[in-house]
Amino acid sequence: MRHDIHSRKRLGLGTLPHFSSDSLFDRIARAVCQAECLPRKELYESWEVARRTRRRFKGGRTVDLACGHGLVAQMMTIIDKTSGSALGVDLVVPPSAARLHARLSETWPFLAERVQIESGEIEAVELLPTDVIVSTHACGPLTDLVLERAMSVGARVAVLPCCHAHGGSEPTGLEGWLDRALAIDVERAERLRRAGYTVYTQHIPEEITPKNRLLMAELE
Ligand SMILES: C[S@@+](CC[C@H](N)C(=O)[O-])C[C@H]1O[C@@H](n2cnc3c(N)ncnc32)[C@H](O)[C@@H]1O
Repeated sequence: MRHDIHSRKRLGLGTLPHFSSDSLFDRIARAVCQAECLPRKELYESWEVARRTRRRFKGGRTVDLACGHGLVAQMMTIIDKTSGSALGVDLVVPPSAARLHARLSETWPFLAERVQIESGEIEAVELLPTDVIVSTHACGPLTDLVLERAMSVGARVAVLPCCHAHGGSEPTGLEGWLDRALAIDVERAERLRRAGYTVYTQHIPEEITPKNRLLMAELE
């Protein structure tokens, strides 16, 4: 059976057979299927962001801003068990986030104590310099807000931007050479560098999402 990893179809009990190995990814995917709430692409996107970010940034509390179901926060905690707690914040936490958290906690019981998913505004979250701040597909200028919040405390940060057409970003002057979305992301990387950050740029696989530029940064 074909299994499109960019599909928006919901993972459920019927997709369990696709994830039958003992790999960490498949074990997480099985819990996600049992929760029956997430589009397939969100599983793959979250995994790519979490594992790449964790390869760079160890330890600290994970703060997943505009977290949706909070899967990235939970994956980050599973991948690096030495990390502290994790906090996911979204203006509107989907009711099914609790079901996903419960399913993941059955396999990784420490998640029940260490992960908190809350309704709230990015603007109001108290951040620490030791945090690892992540944000997957925070639309348009919301990504800029995440970067601003991270820079305000000097925390490590990883974003996968999207919806560049939403506006709110200043013209960069680079649009003559680069398409607008790329120009905006290049300017974001430069902004971090000007603030003293070391920047790491990667792509997650395009077959998962075309909005696939991963921008990570840390203060030395
Ligand atoms: C495209 S979704 C991404 C959700 C999730 N990170 C993912 O990758 O599936 C953008 C999210 O941003 C949230 N959001 C919008 N404005 C926000 C704000 N000011 N504070 C917190 N969350 C916000 C929305 O509720 C929505 O869940």
